[in-house]
Amino acid sequence: MRLAVFNAKGYDRLYLDHFADWQLTFFDAHLNEQSAPLAAGFDAVCCFVNDVVNVAVLEQLSERGVGLVAMRCAGFNNVDIAAARRLGIAVCRVPEYSPYAVAEHAAALVLDLNRHIRRAYARVREQDYSLDGLLGFDLHGKTAGIIGGGKIGQAFARIMNGFGCRTLVYDPAPSAAMAVLAEAVSIERLWAESDIVSLHCPLLEATHHLVNADTLAQMKPGVMLINTSRGGLIDTRAVIAALKSGRIGYLGLDVYEEEADLFFNDLSDGILQDDVFARLLTFPNVVITGHQAFFTREALAEIARVTRQNLQAYARGDCSGSGFIVGC
Ligand code: NAI
Repeated sequence: MRLAVFNAKGYDRLYLDHFADWQLTFFDAHLNEQSAPLAAGFDAVCCFVNDVVNVAVLEQLSERGVGLVAMRCAGFNNVDIAAARRLGIAVCRVPEYSPYAVAEHAAALVLDLNRHIRRAYARVREQDYSLDGLLGFDLHGKTAGIIGGGKIGQAFARIMNGFGCRTLVYDPAPSAAMAVLAEAVSIERLWAESDIVSLHCPLLEATHHLVNADTLAQMKPGVMLINTSRGGLIDTRAVIAALKSGRIGYLGLDVYEEEADLFFNDLSDGILQDDVFARLLTFPNVVITGHQAFFTREALAEIARVTRQNLQAYARGDCSGSGFIVGC
């Protein structure tokens, strides 16, 4: 069977090999309406977070005989699930690969923001050993509010508990596993009491712009906000206003709502066209990484293993596994 891997980087080619029964072809292009014709003659396509898998693309895939969209990530907010179901295209994903990778990256953003590591490093390289402007705070005793107590939220709670933080969680479907790690509270209490707010819920209609002008006004002045989940959880313009007013004291992002045109590409020769993103880059108390929280050796190996498992199950006509969102 033939698999078209879209949006393929060097590390994807390295890890996504040895797929028994499947012949892989790698395309640099993102999957979108323009590139969908490349999928002609393939049984399945393999996509990532910034590929466009909307109704127009799915219709093109269906016309070309593609029967499976294999997401090599956990989130699937970029796939029109209802359209896939209607067209009879199966959809699978990697529900869990390394919650530690993402939680540890969120913690890295917390530490970098709090202890001004980038600024300190830049100073030391210039033989400037002064400490003005580098003042941090003890994490010990502070309150960390976690939105979404799933696998990553739990891993993050364990890390923050290790620092001696008090941890709170808001989750509409609370789990027993999270209940022993963090105190379950209403979202209003979480906004009001947290020194650090970290987002670990999926992007859904209900969570789109969860962080907005109203909810920002409920947060502690000077709050640290961390988003390693999905960019659409945050109304970026409202966050910029809150950075200017000081409501947000620190902002750590690994995701951005308009990241599709930016992240995963080397654009260093070009002119940045996104004025909102450009404004974010001007704040000294903002650190942004380009959707790399998942990017550890362990996570890539697990993504490849589960993707292979999903493809083999599909080839057997068995789409009952937990990786399948739409069956075959
Ligand atoms: P999960 O499915 O284990 O947990 C998500 C939790 O969010 C669940 O407990 C669910 O009940 C909760 N939730 C649902 N609606 C909510 C709401 N309205 N408010 C608060 N909580 C809500 O997912 P997991 O593995 O913990 O991943 C979380 C998110 O992290 C993913 O949806 C994905 O968007 C993001 N992610 C980011 C990566 C990166 O590289 N930056 C890599 C992997 C995941």
